[in-house]
Amino acid sequence: VTKKGLALAWVTLSDKGSQGLRADAAGPAIAETCAASLPLALAQGHLIPDEPAELRALLLDLAVTQGFDLIVTTGGTGLSPRDTTPEATLGVIEKRLPGFETAMLLASLAKTPHAMLSRATAGTVGRAIVINVPGSPKAVRETLAAVMAAIPHGLDKLR
Ligand code: MTE
Repeated sequence: VTKKGLALAWVTLSDKGSQGLRADAAGPAIAETCAASLPLALAQGHLIPDEPAELRALLLDLAVTQGFDLIVTTGGTGLSPRDTTPEATLGVIEKRLPGFETAMLLASLAKTPHAMLSRATAGTVGRAIVINVPGSPKAVRETLAAVMAAIPHGLDKLR
């Protein structure tokens, strides 16, 4: 956390990506989309398998120990057997942000009916805002665009 800008961490959930079997395009799309709307002092990425315990530990480390302001996860929000990002995130969220979830869902439904298959959640962990978005770069852009405007004020209120 610096006064010059926000510290962003993105976390890509992908079994294939974490084994080096697929390039991660969604993580960099998070950094690009956030950088277009927010003053970023730092952007750091992580690529992990769809393991809920690993995600819970990483979210707590990034938010509480390392003090990141904004943490965006991508992938694992759907219905596949290994999709557990929302459950893992809800396991560490202190205050849920249903307004963020609704804004992302409404924007997404305007793009594709498949949006209703995403179970993405959002909320606070310590002084960080944590947001789940689906796993494609297109979905990253469409969902994050809907919540960017509320993030600076939301982070101010958490201080
Ligand atoms: N939301 C937006 N805005 N754009 C999309 O293309 N894809 C949907 C949905 N939400 C999509 C979207 C699809 S096809 C799925 S299966 C779910 O997100 C879950 O995606 P995930 O498992 O990669 O998280």
